[in-house]
Amino acid sequence: MKPTRTWVLLALVGWTCAVAAYAILARPSSGTTVILVALGPLVAGLVQSHRQHLTVLARLDRQKALLDRQTAILESHVHRAEGVARVGERVEDLADLGPSIATDLDALRTTVDALPHREEFDAKVRAAAADVITRTRKGVAVDLLLTFRQLEALHNLYALGDVDRPMPPTRGWASSPDLLLLLATLVEREEPGLIVECGSGTSTLWLAMLLRRFEIKGRVVSLEHQQAFVESAWAAVLRHDLAEYVEVRYAPLEPVELDGTTYQWYSRQAWGELDGIGLLFVDGPPGELGPHARFPAFPLLADKLSPDAVVVLDDLIRQDEEEVLERWLAARPDYHAERVSLEKNAALLRRTSRPASAV
Ligand SMILES: C[S@@+](CC[C@H](N)C(=O)[O-])C[C@H]1O[C@@H](n2cnc3c(N)ncnc32)[C@H](O)[C@@H]1O
Repeated sequence: MKPTRTWVLLALVGWTCAVAAYAILARPSSGTTVILVALGPLVAGLVQSHRQHLTVLARLDRQKALLDRQTAILESHVHRAEGVARVGERVEDLADLGPSIATDLDALRTTVDALPHREEFDAKVRAAAADVITRTRKGVAVDLLLTFRQLEALHNLYALGDVDRPMPPTRGWASSPDLLLLLATLVEREEPGLIVECGSGTSTLWLAMLLRRFEIKGRVVSLEHQQAFVESAWAAVLRHDLAEYVEVRYAPLEPVELDGTTYQWYSRQAWGELDGIGLLFVDGPPGELGPHARFPAFPLLADKLSPDAVVVLDDLIRQDEEEVLERWLAARPDYHAERVSLEKNAALLRRTSRPASAV
């Protein structure tokens, strides 16, 4: 049965029951009762008409929602159509420009063709192009050779060291393989009991590994001003089981005054007690701290060097380090320097009384 009919039937039954109850309880006149009974179909009609209105309203709501959706779809089509129309306008603009570009190109070609000494001009362009190609080829060849040298050094280093786990990267911020190989030669030859390194990283691990490899009773003290690099260097040391050969010391930078200039250098607390340094490797702090950032290393640690110590200054490829070296030598004529040609160049300092090493 349809819902509306059910409601009409319910209204009719409900009305009849209500009239019967009223007749029993209130005992109205028979005329009133007849009128009330006769009103039943009217009430049922009203209910039916109300239900039909509700149904029509629900249908209208559904149609409105459908219309809203279709309107939204139509709007998006209109939006897209407007976009397409705009692109079309641009294409037309470009098409308009086409002939004028072609005309400009023709004019340019004519101008170039009409240039005096055209052949001479062409020859010069060809010569310049050939020169660029030759120089690029030479540059690539030199670069390949230098890279090959680093690979050779790295290969020798791995053969020397007792490496059974992955090593951190070399070059860039870290020492290059050729410098690490030089350090290896020094460690083997000098057998330093105490190595002090300014600036930790890949070199820390290699120095410790070489001490173990050559069975030297020595240790590395690495000064590092950045906590994060202390942690990464130490993690690498532990990974390679080298803790008995290394100390990575957190040495925050502090102001130090030398020759009337204030520098930022490793806190004295981290190195004050050291003595008898056999190998001092100066590879920090970073140059971006200011001019001659590595200058304090030698004036502050010179008295802590053993008589036959070697000092290695990295990055002599930079003018700043070259100036630092000159200042060191000017202040200490009892030391002499040997420049070593490497990827980033380096200098070895020894007491003048010691012969040059010819590394
Ligand atoms: C030239 S690096 C020292 C490199 C180290 N002797 C070696 O051979 O790996 C000098 C300082 O730069 C910082 N440093 C190290 N690795 C870095 C990196 N990958 N990026 C930025 N700074 C770095 C550390 O504070 C380090 O003491």
